Amino acid sequence: MVHEAFEGFDIHHYMEVSSTNEEALDLLEKGISSETVIVANKQTEGRGRTGKSWISPEGNLYTSLIIDQAKDINRLTELTFVTAIAVGNAIQSSINSCNIQYKWPNDVLVDGKKISGILLEKKSNTNWLVIGIGININHAPLSTATCMGDYGVSVSNIDLLKELIINFNKVRKQWLSSGFYAIREMWLKRAFKLNEQISIKLADKLYEGIFANINENGRLVLQQKNGSLIYFDTGIL
Ligand code: BTN
Repeated sequence: MVHEAFEGFDIHHYMEVSSTNEEALDLLEKGISSETVIVANKQTEGRGRTGKSWISPEGNLYTSLIIDQAKDINRLTELTFVTAIAVGNAIQSSINSCNIQYKWPNDVLVDGKKISGILLEKKSNTNWLVIGIGININHAPLSTATCMGDYGVSVSNIDLLKELIINFNKVRKQWLSSGFYAIREMWLKRAFKLNEQISIKLADKLYEGIFANINENGRLVLQQKNGSLIYFDTGIL
């Protein structure tokens, strides 16, 4: 494992781990004193949202930011938007002209295909939050996915990670000083399927309607056929 300090984070770089989120949670068990980033070239048991697995061959970015949530005043939902924008900006800095979109709750798409996924996990009773981020650089493991290589971009996982950290710090700072409003505006400008028909599956129940808005608390507002509104939280996990 290689150690490096960068932009306020202590970076731990591994060749292979089961999951960088798992590694981050294990590290929290032992105790840490500063914000830390785990990055691995490969994951053997990468995890995605809702219990899915995240296929993780060598060549993509797999990272987990361990951040001190005390600074972020418990606004977890807002933080998922902050992270998605930082990911979008980092990708945009490599692929100049591409159509980046944010898909609720926390996917980043390029030309309608998924290029990145985000998974937040928390160890209860601590202020530390783990933000797991996967970005497809050289491989798009599913047919619904794309990767930066499809756009002629070649970048190393560590260079992309550094770009991501710089952008994360920038967007987080803006959020902490000026609030969620501007973050929400940025996200909405590039929202996938805004004002279109969508369906959301929650606890095996399917909700259908128009994706009308993201409200001031970061909840998705779904307008049903009968005009009634339902609000969805991103939640953690
Ligand atoms: C999703 O879209 O379902 C979220 C995917 C999150 C994948 C990343 S890769 C790095 C970190 N470690 C994991 O095991 N998962 C996240």
